[in-house]
Amino acid sequence: MIITEQDRAACSVHLTEDGRAVEIIDQTRLPNHEVYLTLKELPDLCAAIKSLAVRGAPAIGIFAAYGMYVLSLAETDTDPAAFRRALAEKGAVLSAARPTAVNLSWAVKRMLGVLQAHEAAPVPALRDLLKAEAIAIHDEDIQMCTRISEYGLSLVKAGDGILTHCNAGPLATSRYGTAIGPVLLGKERGIPLKVFSDETRPLLQGARLTSYELQRAGVDVTLICDNMASIVMKNGWVQACFVGCDRVAANGDFANKIGTSGVAILAKHYGIPFYTLGPASTIDLSCPTGADIRIEQRDPEEIKTMWYREPMALPEVKCYNPAFDVTDHRLLTAIVTDRGIVYPPFDVNLKKLFS
Ligand code: MRU
Repeated sequence: MIITEQDRAACSVHLTEDGRAVEIIDQTRLPNHEVYLTLKELPDLCAAIKSLAVRGAPAIGIFAAYGMYVLSLAETDTDPAAFRRALAEKGAVLSAARPTAVNLSWAVKRMLGVLQAHEAAPVPALRDLLKAEAIAIHDEDIQMCTRISEYGLSLVKAGDGILTHCNAGPLATSRYGTAIGPVLLGKERGIPLKVFSDETRPLLQGARLTSYELQRAGVDVTLICDNMASIVMKNGWVQACFVGCDRVAANGDFANKIGTSGVAILAKHYGIPFYTLGPASTIDLSCPTGADIRIEQRDPEEIKTMWYREPMALPEVKCYNPAFDVTDHRLLTAIVTDRGIVYPPFDVNLKKLFS
């Protein structure tokens, strides 16, 4: 697959034309405002990740890779060892911006690995290597999303209803996306699929991002509140659930947007196949089970005040606001990856994927 500069520039995360900063579409402003942010300082890069201006596990990985390159441009030290140390420190700060999606630390590690592998190289050459690695991470994601979309499309037929949760489309990745990829590829190929998009409380990625992406792409999309998934399934409108993932543990348990595990439990009840779709970079074999995945806790104001003209709870009311939950692998029909579709037993078959 040939990937051009234009292909990269069309993605939600890319380098600016002069190659000196990372440009993103600010996902917090969608769907009403298409605002672009140009970032190159470490605090701004971290703030973009924390505020979800850039979000979705693969997109965060691509962003971190470009971010590391852009940070390297500002490093004035000409001693390669000092240059490496400075970037390792900044990489640690960037990695800590969000803990659950493995792609963030994976991409930072991969960028630092380039520096370790070329210890003798002078600083200008190291910068070139970092740029090449960031572009490679981006291009691989485009290729992986394309393959995931092909595999996912093989699991459904024209006219099927797909229920999705959160946003795992192009905004969260590169071309096509993961969970939304089969739908967009199907659209291209004349295989129509209907999508039910959970609004995804509390940050509404399903409403603000998924329904926006699909509507723009001319896909038959119906927005539902999270608590309507059961009736939609009971009505017989859903033939498969496709969701993304932020980290897949070695036993197949996986973290994804809060509410995903509830959808999986409902799907089991109604006998509907439930799939997570993600690139190999989201599989973390060093993490034995879902219990070992650190779950990000977010600001209670996202629940109480963020979307309302007036607060929806007294200021003193306690809130519990985990950004993700873990879906038990026993609820999962298969994991759709760029390397193929993985069926149970996941502890055995995920290992085979990397052997
Ligand atoms: O908090 P978010 O919006 O970054 O959560 C995103 C998800 O849970 C996605 O489903 C996941 O990152 C996969 S995106 C291809």
